[in-house]
Amino acid sequence: MVPFLRILGIETSCDETAAAVVERDAEGHCNVLSDVVLSQLDEHSAYGGVVPEIAARAHVEALDELIEQALKRANVSLDDVDAIAATSGPGLIGGLLVGLMTGKAIARAAGKPLYAVNHLEGHALTARLTDGLSFPYLVLLVSGGHTQLILVRGVGQYERWGTTIDDALGEAFDKTAKLLGLPYPGGPAVERMARDGNADRFNFPRPLVGEARLDFSFSGLKTAVRQAAQDIAPLSDQDVADICASFQRAISRTLKDRIGRGLQRFKREFPTTGEKPALVVAGGVAANLELRATLQALCDKNGFRFIAPPLSLCTDNAVMIAWAGLERMATGVAPDTLDVQPRSRWPLDANAETLIGFGKRGAKA
Ligand code: KG4
Ligand code: ZN
Repeated sequence: MVPFLRILGIETSCDETAAAVVERDAEGHCNVLSDVVLSQLDEHSAYGGVVPEIAARAHVEALDELIEQALKRANVSLDDVDAIAATSGPGLIGGLLVGLMTGKAIARAAGKPLYAVNHLEGHALTARLTDGLSFPYLVLLVSGGHTQLILVRGVGQYERWGTTIDDALGEAFDKTAKLLGLPYPGGPAVERMARDGNADRFNFPRPLVGEARLDFSFSGLKTAVRQAAQDIAPLSDQDVADICASFQRAISRTLKDRIGRGLQRFKREFPTTGEKPALVVAGGVAANLELRATLQALCDKNGFRFIAPPLSLCTDNAVMIAWAGLERMATGVAPDTLDVQPRSRWPLDANAETLIGFGKRGAKA
């Protein structure tokens, strides 16, 4: 039987510094004792994107204090935790170094095992924490650094069914916002503008739609937006709103096709999973209500449960890192040794081929 476990989680792979204390009981239920996240949005917004050096410095300045806060809020000391889990990739190498080295130092000083966690695994396993989901299921991870459709077969068993061959979806939102003069981060700004826009005005491309492979491509869409904006410059507010609405429509249609094919494939490969199959969404783009509605409708049509964890657990956080560590402990995975190194690239699916252009902006997830 798996014992009751408690773990300290640390996340520093991009622009959120986070620490959390999480428990798992013998039946696999999760209890979040604390969840502290410090966003660096203000530090980066002036530059229109995440600046790796600024991020690394901000992690150094904030992390020790955040870990103390997480322990204090959980009302535990380091003696009371069974292990330390720290993100060790993929992500910006400076931030990863800060988090993993801190995790190692604590593990060494407190005499606790260390789990070096793949950030993507944290996203992939979150729905088991929130919804007690059983394997297998599909995860659509859509963030500023990643766009992936992942089959989760079990702890440590992941298959990447699709990925972007160029920009990540959040990145496409951010770049589109930037060229329209909207603030960073672009996703919320584009979504806000799109509400008042005419989605039929521009017929933007829907890359890879109709193709059997399950990959994504968004850079052509961004180029088409730039071209449309240049053609009608100077832009009125209504023009910007129409472009945003048409851009979002193109993405919705693309996801409908790509993910629809993914759901069909899942049904072919797992004709009888016992319960209703599930699609989980993760990453910051999951905040987008139009895209959520598209995915919900797609799931309804295909007989899938659509699971969208609370946004604080969709975006980067340390609870998911702690939970991934707990899942590994509960499955009997040995801890990592203290010479484990951070990895800016670390595919979840070791068999997945590297696609041209993928991860070119670093491996922000
Ligand atoms: O997962 P996340 O918080 O951070 C990392 O990428 O690490 O995702 C941030 C991304 C940004 O690209 C942001 O523009 C996008 O998520 N985003 C959105 C929305 N809110 C955030 N994209 C579309 N619609 C939104 N409402
Ligand atoms: Zn992430």
